[in-house]
Amino acid sequence: MIEIKNVSQSYVNKVKTIDNMNLKIDDGIVFGFIGPNGAGKTTTIEMITGILNIDEGDILIDGKSIKNSPIEAKKNFGFVPDTPDAFEKLTGIEYLNFIADMYEVPTEKRLEIVKKLATEFGIIDNLKDRIQSYSHGMKQKLLIISVLLHNPKNWILDEPMTGLDPKASYILKKLMKEHSKKGNTVFFSTHVLEVAEKICDKIAVIDKGKIIFIGTCDELKEKVKINTSLEESFLKIIEGK
Ligand SMILES: Nc1ncnc2c1ncn2[C@@H]1O[C@H](COP(=O)(O)OP(=O)(O)OP(=O)(O)O)[C@@H](O)[C@H]1O
Ligand SMILES: [Mg+2]
Repeated sequence: MIEIKNVSQSYVNKVKTIDNMNLKIDDGIVFGFIGPNGAGKTTTIEMITGILNIDEGDILIDGKSIKNSPIEAKKNFGFVPDTPDAFEKLTGIEYLNFIADMYEVPTEKRLEIVKKLATEFGIIDNLKDRIQSYSHGMKQKLLIISVLLHNPKNWILDEPMTGLDPKASYILKKLMKEHSKKGNTVFFSTHVLEVAEKICDKIAVIDKGKIIFIGTCDELKEKVKINTSLEESFLKIIEGK
């Protein structure tokens, strides 16, 4: 479970990028975070994951404050950032072993997971190569595997489908659904509203640093009185009509 409590954050001139945000992401669901470019999705995710300091308020991950107990909180989640940057000079398998060592994943377990996921994602033969030789999508797949290696309860993903081929995107969506069904939490940002509509049990819409809607996709359509696509409902609520 992720709880964002009265969180505000500014980058420059005290203009609030995130303005008194409150959001609770329950266990057992896939939760989508949608909003226009510059709305504050990545900023929020970077505060949840401890990359960015929180100016006001606090964020709890399974009850652990990212501000006051960062190490404890970080043990409870896995994070896939929007830019798949890993240590370029390492080979894929060296990187995965490094992450597995850090999270103390037993050798047999890590071999089993890496073999299964790297085969499914079609990068098993590339694991011996340096990451600098990988395409964007291949790096994305490697980071996804690294997150799944230690099987964290909370998955946090910033635009994870970007750059993935259709098969990989399909596998990832399936993994996200399965993870939530086991009682875990999946929180991800996306611009692909078809994906949100298909896999999210709940969504939040953010605009200019404020949450303007929390609920199901159907509830959003009901709220804006549109009975067609999530895309049209999204555009309508953003336009404030
Ligand atoms: N490092 C930074 N320094 C100053 N301002 C920043 C910085 N990073 C983001 N911002 C500003 O914060 C606001 C929110 O940006 P953020 O990256 O969180 O948006 P986003 O919702 O993730 O957008 P996108 O859909 O384009 O990824 C924007 O106005 C952006 O210009
Ligand atoms: Mg972003």
